[in-house]
Amino acid sequence: MSDKTSILIVDDNPNNLQVLGHLLKQENFSVAVSQDGQQALDYIAKKHPDIVLLDVMMPGMDGIEVCERIKANERSRQIPVLFITALSDSEDKMRGFRAGGHDYITKPFLKEEVLARVRAVVDRLQVEAELRKSRKALKEINENLEQKVVERTENLRKLQLQLVLQEKMASIGQLAAGLAHELNNPINFVYTNFTTLEENINDFFHIFVGYRRLIEKQDLAGGDLADLELLHEDEKRAHVDFVLGDIEALFAESREGFKRITWIITSLGNFSRSEQAEEKTTSDLNRAIEDTLVITRNEYKYHCEVETELGNIEPLICIPQQINEVLVNLVVNAAHAIKGQKRASKGKIQIKTYMQDTTVCCEIQDDGPGVPDGIKMRIFEPFFTTKDVGKGTGLGLSISYDIIVNKHSGDFVVQDAEGGGTIFIIRIPLLQQELIGKTYKRSGGTVCKI
Ligand SMILES: Nc1ncnc2c1ncn2[C@@H]1O[C@H](COP(=O)(O)OP(=O)(O)O)[C@@H](O)[C@H]1O
Ligand SMILES: [Mg+2]
Repeated sequence: MSDKTSILIVDDNPNNLQVLGHLLKQENFSVAVSQDGQQALDYIAKKHPDIVLLDVMMPGMDGIEVCERIKANERSRQIPVLFITALSDSEDKMRGFRAGGHDYITKPFLKEEVLARVRAVVDRLQVEAELRKSRKALKEINENLEQKVVERTENLRKLQLQLVLQEKMASIGQLAAGLAHELNNPINFVYTNFTTLEENINDFFHIFVGYRRLIEKQDLAGGDLADLELLHEDEKRAHVDFVLGDIEALFAESREGFKRITWIITSLGNFSRSEQAEEKTTSDLNRAIEDTLVITRNEYKYHCEVETELGNIEPLICIPQQINEVLVNLVVNAAHAIKGQKRASKGKIQIKTYMQDTTVCCEIQDDGPGVPDGIKMRIFEPFFTTKDVGKGTGLGLSISYDIIVNKHSGDFVVQDAEGGGTIFIIRIPLLQQELIGKTYKRSGGTVCKI
């Protein structure tokens, strides 16, 4: 305490007040005096002294009651009270302690004793003040720490989101390159066919105009065999008979090319539909698998055959984009596993869907190298990858796990395939707990409530 310690002395005996006041003032305390209980309480309420010295025996309100009132009041409860009692009066001392008194000083006053007892209280007040200060500092440190933990957690969450996004961007980038290639192929041959057809039509046009002229001439002046011969020569040069047969094939092939382009674009459209990116809606898992296979074709077509056995399954209530993301991850992983074996013949990816009671199941099996037992549990960990630096982020399966297990209350397991290779099994219940009581739009446009 930096200021002087303030002491209120309450005693009905002016002589006592004077002796004690003098003694304490000499010791550099700030002293106030009061001769009766009520006056003392009023003073305490206003000035809040550090210590009260209180006589037990007073007319009117005695010291015990004054002490009880001090202790009953929230604002003055902390003020230490030292009773002033006669040396012999042990009953007074006990009553004083029961009323909340801190200590006592005895009459007649012994200077050393009075000062020792008062200083003991002052020391205690100092220790308490220090303690309060430390507690306050500790509380502030704690609050700071909590704030820091909140900030760190938020930063980590942001970082995680960023990583998930990065993984998405990486796989989108990879798929985009493949898709560009897939689209380029039919566009190239439709373009080449188009150029050939244009040349053919130019030749035909030339011959057609020749025939028209010949007919006009014949009408006017009779036939001219030499002109006809010339036209026949033109026809031969233009390989008209061959071209007539070829045109049909060119159209058929181009039609096929357009179909493929439309097919890829439709799948891409289904895939990237972004209306309710994070909302659950009914969706056809079989169709999602077919779209996935179109979009990832460039990743697997050189090394794998894909077989599908898509069963009669119920529409799934899910976040379609997330399910697509899982399917892409699994198909691409399977293709990469097979590709990594560098074998002479193509490998096989098999995709099956079926119902198991009220659960929709999907198995994606490959005949690649399999996942060694030692790392089977680790492949779902974020950043776990056996691929070369820059080839894999190691996030695909951990994100897929989160999507199936946490976001769709499903199961996601890996098993060894018979004869080598890996099977990933996804099981998603039709009735996910959180869906109960909600309304869903079916793909046909009808609304259903679960
Ligand atoms: N079909 C599979 N066959 C063999 N190993 C696989 C297969 N799918 C995943 N893995 C293993 O799991 C690891 C983690 O996969 P994933 O989380 O998708 O990350 P990434 O593909 O970026 O490595 C892969 O590096 C690979 O070792
Ligand atoms: Mg992967």
